[in-house]
Amino acid sequence: MTAYDQFDALLYDHHASGLEGDTAFYVEEAKQAGSGVLELGCGTGRILVPTAQAGVSIIGLDRAPAMLALAEQKLAALPPAVRDRVSLTHADMRDFQLDAALQLITVPYRAFLHLLTLKDQRRTLACIHRHLVPRGRLILDIFDPDIETLAAHSGPLGPVLKQDRIFQHPQTGRRIISWEARRYDLERQLLEQSTVFEEVDTEGRSLSRTHRSLTLRYVFRYEMRHLLELAGFRVEALYGDFQRGPFSHGGEQIWIARKVETERKPS
Ligand SMILES: C[S@@+](CC[C@H](N)C(=O)[O-])C[C@H]1O[C@@H](n2cnc3c(N)ncnc32)[C@H](O)[C@@H]1O
Repeated sequence: MTAYDQFDALLYDHHASGLEGDTAFYVEEAKQAGSGVLELGCGTGRILVPTAQAGVSIIGLDRAPAMLALAEQKLAALPPAVRDRVSLTHADMRDFQLDAALQLITVPYRAFLHLLTLKDQRRTLACIHRHLVPRGRLILDIFDPDIETLAAHSGPLGPVLKQDRIFQHPQTGRRIISWEARRYDLERQLLEQSTVFEEVDTEGRSLSRTHRSLTLRYVFRYEMRHLLELAGFRVEALYGDFQRGPFSHGGEQIWIARKVETERKPS
């Protein structure tokens, strides 16, 4: 599991640019909620900051101090009116305690897949359910596991790294080439991703290589639906992209779910 430490945080915005249209989508949903918005796994504020800039007050929660520190840094450069709309919390989405009436809780950019066990997934959904007002909404996106890709990459994680991105190091200004290898563990339903960040000089000579690994639990469509329903949510929509197109296999799963009150048993 990645720690999202200082190294990850520094490079995050430069290689994890999100999914097409995701920021606009989440900002729109937050505007519709109007107030009482919480983003779980807010990271460096990629979505949180534009949400506050659009006039919506939002709480950002993350368990990685280095990611939150970058979000703080971004906010510090913004007008006080924007800063005042944001509150950042260092906590774990599996077990958080906030004193707020929440209309909308979001878990953008596949952060839900960092929950590696069924127990963690259910704990998180229960915690979200507890924090939402009656009929409050949960919106999250995850990738839809593509069966052919899974089958093709289910062997051992080999030494073959595929070039992924080239970008500039935000501090040294040098070129960073990122290389990636993936493996799907079909028994444990895990995606194991290995990334090497290589810093090169102007001649293309390698100066340093930093290795990172990331493990995600991929979730199938009807598995996610069951998880949501078992946790007391009614699914209102499943989109396949952030333009609200239909779901299709191997694309995205963008879930909009509404809290339903669980029946109280007579005492
Ligand atoms: C892929 S990043 C997404 C960041 C941001 N939402 C975005 O769209 O750019 C995932 C984030 O989830 C956070 N995260 C992972 N597991 C978490 C947990 N159990 N509780 C809180 N945050 C968590 C990580 O620290 C990281 O910042």
